[in-house]
Amino acid sequence: MSKGLIIAIDGPAGSGKSTSAKLIAKKLGFLYIDTGAMYRAVTYIALENEAIGNEKKIVELARISKLELRFDESGIIILLNGRDISKEIRSDQVNRHVSDVSRISDVRKLLVEKQREMSRKDQGVVMEGRDIGTVVFPDADVKIFLTASLDTRAIRRTKEYIDNGSEVVVDDIKNNLSSRDKIDSSRTDSPLTKAPDAVVIDTTKITIDEQINLILDKVKEKAKQKNINLDIKTE
Ligand code: DC
Repeated sequence: MSKGLIIAIDGPAGSGKSTSAKLIAKKLGFLYIDTGAMYRAVTYIALENEAIGNEKKIVELARISKLELRFDESGIIILLNGRDISKEIRSDQVNRHVSDVSRISDVRKLLVEKQREMSRKDQGVVMEGRDIGTVVFPDADVKIFLTASLDTRAIRRTKEYIDNGSEVVVDDIKNNLSSRDKIDSSRTDSPLTKAPDAVVIDTTKITIDEQINLILDKVKEKAKQKNINLDIKTE
């Protein structure tokens, strides 16, 4: 019998996906997969090879590049052909082009296949993105769709950048989030959309603890139904 569950967390940028997904995975001892980091990595490769706008070249670059995702105390580490590009994938340049790269169906096919391969049902997995509950794992055990107002999301992202030593302006961040939301939600292949059976949590006015507890309640309910014993760390 499987010991784990598949937890899908979708929603727009800044809605609290990463914070929730990381903490939930840590508490449950599950694998954490940030799929946005994978689309960012492909965008970074495309920029580095001056391939933006050239779909065929981007798909080929995505196909031949070795992407590895690790997660440790310092956060998510993404290796491209063995090189750590964790910082580079958060650059302004990547922010500006990532939605256009994510629209390419053949890039999505490659990454979705990798996301499914990386998942370990026996251990349990928390995967965050835009299409996890709709496309990657339509049969996920728990599906969460996080939302928050654009202003709140822009303030959160700005704070994250400032905390990491980058100089950013909240209005620029807000414009980038809003334009990414539009492209991500309107693309033909796997748009950002709530799965019909996903639970919506609006994080605008709740604390991180409240948001984690709401998600954990759903996870516990599902584990009970499936007779799975969860070992939840309390610290
Ligand atoms: O979660 P994030 O902001 O790091 O994601 C960056 C971009 O990657 C996002 O604007 C759209 C794309 N993305 C996607 O298309 N599908 C996913 N499952 C995750 C991210």
